[in-house]
Amino acid sequence: MSETLRVALVGLGDAGAHHARALKALHGEGRMRWVACCGRDPARTLRYCEAQGVDLQPWASLDAMLDAGGIDAVVLATPDGLHGSQALRLAEGGVHALVEKPLALDAESAFRAVEAFREKGLRLGVGYQLRHHAGHRLAREALETRVGRLRRVDLRWTWPDPAVDGWRARGEGSRWWSLAALGTHALDLALWFARRGPEDASSVEAIIDREGPVDRRAEVCLGFGDGLTLHVAVSVEYRSVPRLSIVGDLGELEALGTLGARGEGTLVHRLPRGATELLPFQPVDPYQAQLQAFLAAVEGGQEPSASGSVGARQVRLLERLTAR
Ligand SMILES: NC(=O)c1ccc[n+]([C@@H]2O[C@H](COP(=O)([O-])OP(=O)(O)OC[C@H]3O[C@@H](n4cnc5c(N)ncnc54)[C@H](OP(=O)(O)O)[C@@H]3O)[C@@H](O)[C@H]2O)c1
Repeated sequence: MSETLRVALVGLGDAGAHHARALKALHGEGRMRWVACCGRDPARTLRYCEAQGVDLQPWASLDAMLDAGGIDAVVLATPDGLHGSQALRLAEGGVHALVEKPLALDAESAFRAVEAFREKGLRLGVGYQLRHHAGHRLAREALETRVGRLRRVDLRWTWPDPAVDGWRARGEGSRWWSLAALGTHALDLALWFARRGPEDASSVEAIIDREGPVDRRAEVCLGFGDGLTLHVAVSVEYRSVPRLSIVGDLGELEALGTLGARGEGTLVHRLPRGATELLPFQPVDPYQAQLQAFLAAVEGGQEPSASGSVGARQVRLLERLTAR
């Protein structure tokens, strides 16, 4: 492994654009070296590389890129159905990986990927960048003093996905739509605030609305033996203000507009019978913060915050929610 990590981006679509922004920023700061991009179409990939203003090697095949060597870590932003097999290929190729969520389309493949990285002593992270939103980090730090004993975490995130004919909506190379685009983020965030895993829930209830092969709306409730409830509502059909509320015995935190790609939004603290206080935070690009934290985990030999195991347990939860 070279001293400054050499990173490649695989998958140059919508999520790829967010990762490219982060890669370019950290490359510019000298934090790592963004060295390559891999798409499917050679001409398009070449144009993509040229447009970044960074000296990038274009590849139209993941195998060819890995066989050529010279890469320490990959950000994988291809469609959901490719993650499981491509993650195995990345582990075999000896590179660390930050894989977009969901880690795979079934829990068995997801846990196989986790094991493959573990066997090789490589780091596997999963793209739950909302953990790196400055407002969410501030809220998590404030839980003990401003919220107290946790009673509920509610997240509502709806967004009219324009890709109504895309691979995800068609169920081709995808298994979930609202649950993969928004739901797994919201569930991960709720569990991260609660410092629990999905397997700690004593009850799991869901209303999943499908039209066609995949879900378009979902309501999920996780109940815990100590009275905590996590509730997530997502839809890919309409726009509303993304809302996060964390309620405890001391007070509540409410974040508006923080569930998104850019790090914006507001956070307030409310006392049950008292004042409302704005909790200001300096917005950071969550993708950039996520990449920075992932690189630090690789360099420090630690597990990333959203590790492969976190991602695999999310896949197992999604599978459970939609198995009925
Ligand atoms: N973390 C987040 O908030 C977030 C947000 C959006 C998406 N995502 C995740 O990111 C992933 C990609 O979603 P997206 O919306 O970006 O999809 P997208 O816009 O369709 O982009 C996927 C890209 O992958 C490329 N691709 C397909 N097969 C490939 C292969 N074998 N090798 C290399 N590249 C390949 C596609 O190439 P072509 O252009 O040739 O088809 C396309 O450019 C999904 O897993 C999604 O869940 C995460």
